[in-house]
Amino acid sequence: MGRAVLSQFLTLSNSTPRLSSSLFCGRLGSKYLKRPGSIRHNRTINGDNGAGFRCCCSVSLSQPAVPETSSIPVRKRIVSGVQPTGAIHLGNYLGAIKTWIELQNSYDTLFFIVDLHAITLPYDTQQLSKATRNTAAIYLACGVDTSKASVFVQSHVRAHVELMWLLSSATPIGWLNRMIQFKEKSRKVGDENVGVALLTYPVLMASDILLYQSDLVPVGEDQKQHLELTRELAERVNYLYGGRKWKKLGGRGGAIFKVPEPLIPPAGARVMSLTDGLSKVSSNR
Ligand code: AMP
Ligand code: TRP
Repeated sequence: MGRAVLSQFLTLSNSTPRLSSSLFCGRLGSKYLKRPGSIRHNRTINGDNGAGFRCCCSVSLSQPAVPETSSIPVRKRIVSGVQPTGAIHLGNYLGAIKTWIELQNSYDTLFFIVDLHAITLPYDTQQLSKATRNTAAIYLACGVDTSKASVFVQSHVRAHVELMWLLSSATPIGWLNRMIQFKEKSRKVGDENVGVALLTYPVLMASDILLYQSDLVPVGEDQKQHLELTRELAERVNYLYGGRKWKKLGGRGGAIFKVPEPLIPPAGARVMSLTDGLSKVSSNR
């Protein structure tokens, strides 16, 4: 990753936490849409303009990567997401969504539907579109409140993929080869059918998290390794491109990314399948 490129991305683009996108123009959305100098684009899930959910994305150009000191207490930021891969199961609820409901009251929360993660294995376009909506509906049904949390579709915010590309060039391939989920899933599909995205998927997840300078990430235990990789990647980028080097290039200096902490629930972190007690319950992908 070129330092200049990253520096420019962080200064001019939306890798700052000021980027906001809300499926329902929730709290973050409405707060920042009105800021001067913000780019605004409205989209709907899967481009449907009918009665579909609206996504209002706002990218502020005037905000620093880490908020400057102010007298207003800054709430810690939490991000998390679920793949729209069909039916949401008990593991998703107990491992992730249930935790979100409490957290949204005291943290700055962003919950997205990670549709770009869902295409790392073979998928059906129409099913994906339907599942994206259903997943949003399930978030709400479980108690996610859009007046408190920002809810949006990952692919509606292009910065996720842009940052992923920059992070990819700082990610040693050996780190990705070690991912248990990659090994398991690629074994199932067979080498010839495995797309590169299945290998690089944790870099996209890191981008989802680091883009917003997140403090905490509530996930089930199966995501722990991906979270560790995210932390290592943040530290690596901070070491390689942050501090004085960044300042010399006209940046703010200091740490580029916050190093996030996983938030794994004490109960429900690994819900097992009722049909196979040795495997965790999953959407079978
Ligand atoms: P996914 O369905 O892979 O998108 O997972 C979404 C969220 O649910 C992540 O935070 C996972 O860690 C969590 N999760 C998935 N399966 C389980 C499970 N069997 N037990 C606990 N948490 C899970
Ligand atoms: N990879 C996660 C899963 O399959 C979903 C996910 C994608 C996620 N991006 C994220 C979770 C960012 C937390 C934060 O379960």
